[in-house]
Amino acid sequence: MNSSKENNEKPIGVFDSGVGGLTVLKEILKVVPHENILYFGDTARVPYGPRDLDEVRRFVFKITSFLCEKDVKLIVVACNTSTAAALDDLKKEFDIPIIGVVEPGARTAAYTTKNRIVGVIATEGTVKSGAYDREIAKIDPSIKLYSVPAPLLVEYIEKGILEGEELQKIIRTYIDPLLEKNIDVLILGCTHFPLVEKQILSYSGGRIKVISSAVETAKDVKRILEEKGLVNASNTRPQRIFYETARCSKFLEVGKMFLGEEIGKVNKISLDI
Ligand code: DGL
Repeated sequence: MNSSKENNEKPIGVFDSGVGGLTVLKEILKVVPHENILYFGDTARVPYGPRDLDEVRRFVFKITSFLCEKDVKLIVVACNTSTAAALDDLKKEFDIPIIGVVEPGARTAAYTTKNRIVGVIATEGTVKSGAYDREIAKIDPSIKLYSVPAPLLVEYIEKGILEGEELQKIIRTYIDPLLEKNIDVLILGCTHFPLVEKQILSYSGGRIKVISSAVETAKDVKRILEEKGLVNASNTRPQRIFYETARCSKFLEVGKMFLGEEIGKVNKISLDI
């Protein structure tokens, strides 16, 4: 894509299985607040985590085609499961910069760990795919990575339960086996988990550093826009457009919690998958 005023004003497309990707968008908006944004949440098919990776790949291709039809200039796959299932194939198929959330988190973890023992909590699909293992091994094969699928944590956060004894119990169940392995870094390998980062940190009592893919991915978005000369320098108020696939969902209420600001309006769309 050439650098021109017209091209640079095109939106960045960000997508997730649902509202979780809004934690990534929140970080993106901190570093590139002037960019136009088109966010897509596949709320009719969430969660992707327990699904077969081939099925997730099919969904992801359909969403990426939709975003390309909307003429976005860059795509952020703001979902770990989607990244794990399809990022490499997407990059081969679509002629547009595409950023996933697995590599940025893995890279930061690999450079942060001191004892080379790292943990990741993620969906079943992400864990099964081995995506984090591959990315970490590319940087430093001597790092030992322990992965724990944490589906209940996704469920609780989806429902907006961000504190309380039940949540603490779930955190303990997922984190204890990793602490027993003596990890010094934990990757939040799911877009929902930054919402319980404080609780995880407080439970681990300062023993571990917690890496959020959202923050690292946002840094990559900024870097790639600059490298490719795609930064939007226009002074007009940036547009934020939201799409979701479910007819009836709590996108606006839960989305506000994830994004940290009012969403205002969400467009309903049905994707033929
Ligand atoms: N957004 C998904 C991820 O980051 C979590 C929710 C789901 O299972 O779809 O893996």
